[in-house]
Amino acid sequence: MDFELSDEQKLISDSAREFCDREILPRVRDNDRAGRFDRELASKLGEVGYLGAPVAEEYGGRGLDYMGYGLIVEQVGRADSSARTVVSVQTSLVCGSIERWGTEEQKQELLPRLCAGEALGCFALTEPDTGSDAANLRTRAKKTDGGWSISGNKMWISMGNFAEVALVFAQTDPEKKHKGLAAFLVPTANDGYSAQEIHGKLGLRASDTAEIALDEVEVPDSAMLGEIGDGFKVAMSALDNGRYSVAAGCVGICDGCVDASVAYSTERKQFGVPIARFQLVQELLAEMIVKRDAARMLVYRAGSLKDRGLPNTAETSIAKLYATEAAVECANAAIQVHGGAGYVDDYPVERYLRDARVTTLYEGTSQIQKLIIGRDATGINAMTPMKD
Ligand code: CAA
Repeated sequence: MDFELSDEQKLISDSAREFCDREILPRVRDNDRAGRFDRELASKLGEVGYLGAPVAEEYGGRGLDYMGYGLIVEQVGRADSSARTVVSVQTSLVCGSIERWGTEEQKQELLPRLCAGEALGCFALTEPDTGSDAANLRTRAKKTDGGWSISGNKMWISMGNFAEVALVFAQTDPEKKHKGLAAFLVPTANDGYSAQEIHGKLGLRASDTAEIALDEVEVPDSAMLGEIGDGFKVAMSALDNGRYSVAAGCVGICDGCVDASVAYSTERKQFGVPIARFQLVQELLAEMIVKRDAARMLVYRAGSLKDRGLPNTAETSIAKLYATEAAVECANAAIQVHGGAGYVDDYPVERYLRDARVTTLYEGTSQIQKLIIGRDATGINAMTPMKD
């Protein structure tokens, strides 16, 4: 077991840090204040290869392993969780699903443009009445001559207003429950697709979040990703990778909290000495550092399992659960170190707290991660309805 990054991994991480310092940090406060989705920044992320890092080079990706991808996501998350959401959704949920489940034609048609950031994609699973119970979708896909007609509503969909293609999950036969689900690559320009921005979010204000309506949207048979009945597995396998990406981004938040708090506490003086001199401030720093390091090790473990092609659903949920909760706790502690200064956006820590909060909700709540971990440990699925 080697706890050191290789020279190549250090280079990936250092160059991602440099990119984020140069391209993301100068915009982050203004975008957050304006609640502006920065499409230009999304293109820059694509140009530098951060929207398809683990996708094979033949499809326009960088062909990196998951460790390398995680190191990039960590740096983007440290700079701006809204930009990190673009990376996670586009790479793990959309491109990763197409690469794993798509036909050669679908891959050739979509992946190069998505990896380059010329087009954006969104992952339309969640519905107004269907969040954690993802198998219970109400969106329906009805067979037509040579294709499908899709109707339903989707909720909390990142990039739904900017996506050119939506990966839409729909039920083809309610009697079959999750075995009737199918995934469709829906061009958002198609008649019947409409998206509306969701306003008033606590954080991730520079991330686009949409409510989507699908009103008899027609797609050809060739729009299906996988087969009828594969939809739930497409969603779950995508989330295995999306959760890894969210966790890596949260390591970045923890890291940013530590750095900001060390810098502030060694400069800020009270009672004639830097506040870092006080044991209670050092305790706050120490707790943040322990959480950051533990979260990072859990993310590395999940990445290493993925790179070796080994089962990793539980380990990914452990990393996601721990890292997202750690990010919230670190950000809260970082504000405490900064005092009143931490409550305004001259420092990044209040944004870290607002942005971290959603990570314990999206891509599976902390409670769902615990149930996945518990199912793995016991072999008992606590999500299955109890029989009297
Ligand atoms: N990979 C592949 N297949 C999987 C899988 C995985 N990780 N997990 C389960 N499956 C398969 C099972 O093997 C099973 O297959 P069979 O039918 O062949 O036996 C099938 O899927 C059903 O599995 P379960 O019985 O475990 O399903 P369940 O309904 O009991 O529970 C759940 C599943 C874990 C609760 C799941 O519904 C879940 O993860 N819910 C949370 C959903 C979620 O994360 N939503 C976030 C949406 S994305 C988002 O946030 C939007 C955004 O834009 C960022």
